[in-house]
Amino acid sequence: MEIIRVDPRSPNEKAIARAAEVLREGRLVAFPTETVYGLGANALDHTAVDRIYAAKERPTYNPLIVHVADIAGAQKVASEWPEAADKLAALFWPGPLTMVLPKRDEIPDGVTAGLGSVAVRIPAHPVALALIRTAGLPVAAPSANRSMMLSPTTADHVVKSLGEAVDVILDGGPTSVGIESTVVDLTSGTPRILRPGMITAEELEKVVGPLETIEHVKERRPVPRLSPGMLDRHYSPDATLVLVDAANVESTVEAARANGNIVGALVITAPSPIGMVTRLPDSAVAYAARLYESLHHFDDAGCDIIVVERVPDGADWAGVRDRLERAATPPID
Ligand code: TXA
Ligand code: MG
Repeated sequence: MEIIRVDPRSPNEKAIARAAEVLREGRLVAFPTETVYGLGANALDHTAVDRIYAAKERPTYNPLIVHVADIAGAQKVASEWPEAADKLAALFWPGPLTMVLPKRDEIPDGVTAGLGSVAVRIPAHPVALALIRTAGLPVAAPSANRSMMLSPTTADHVVKSLGEAVDVILDGGPTSVGIESTVVDLTSGTPRILRPGMITAEELEKVVGPLETIEHVKERRPVPRLSPGMLDRHYSPDATLVLVDAANVESTVEAARANGNIVGALVITAPSPIGMVTRLPDSAVAYAARLYESLHHFDDAGCDIIVVERVPDGADWAGVRDRLERAATPPID
């Protein structure tokens, strides 16, 4: 594995050219996006795409996001381009929004897990954009972690999770958004959010009108294949994550310590319990930026249990709430 450091604002051309060459050879390049690091392969090469599934030990029913550098690139991946896609792209691309659209035949089944639709986005990161442009390819990239585990927000997290399974890692420092993109499905009449993120339902509704919410979708209990990212347990640290109200953080930590566990606590407003504590800001944007980094840190410190203070109810917290609820044990429905 080769780790190449790059300036996140103006990446060195030689570094990008090297990584682009590796992609064109059908091998895997991990690269920073504004959300989390992605594990990239040539989206048009089914053997390269198979390597992603092998490296991540990802179930083959969970489709990948295709990263492109511009709208023309997105239209080469999607077979239809509804007005909603045009409006959303104008407002949110490049950025942490993924659109699910009907797919073109050229996109291998491996990318879409055999679905008739494809997920596509333009990432807002100079390194990702330079890589895609230089390779001259659509780049299929899930988050660069083993399946079901925490997403990486630094190159070190990628090394820890995937190690030698990656050919090249472009190290552009920590990512800024910190949790994965909002995924919106535009393949049926009413757009719906398949995975909440930092672009909120309200922001999308201003552009495309009322959405079907994730709660509506959950109520209908779709088969996992419809939206595999909604499998209940996901995005988990190695430690057991327990979500509690602010008032119960101290007592939960103490009880877990009394049972001989190494315990970490992630709080916003709760009084600091004894032991390892990380306090994050009371702003969804600032909290999301540091969430995975904080959980990775507790794992690295050997924690058995991470006690996390529940985050506020506001719509801007939907993405963070979703990740914490999926990571929590037992999963909260
Ligand atoms: O921010 C992100 O989205 C990051 C960076 C690297 O771009 N990528 C990411 O990829 O989180 P991944 O593979 O970890 O998550 C992709 C999500 C999954 O929940 C997957 O099920 C969903 O997108 N997805 C992909 N293609 C789909 C499709 N055709 N229909 C429905 N859901 C799809
Ligand atoms: Mg992922």
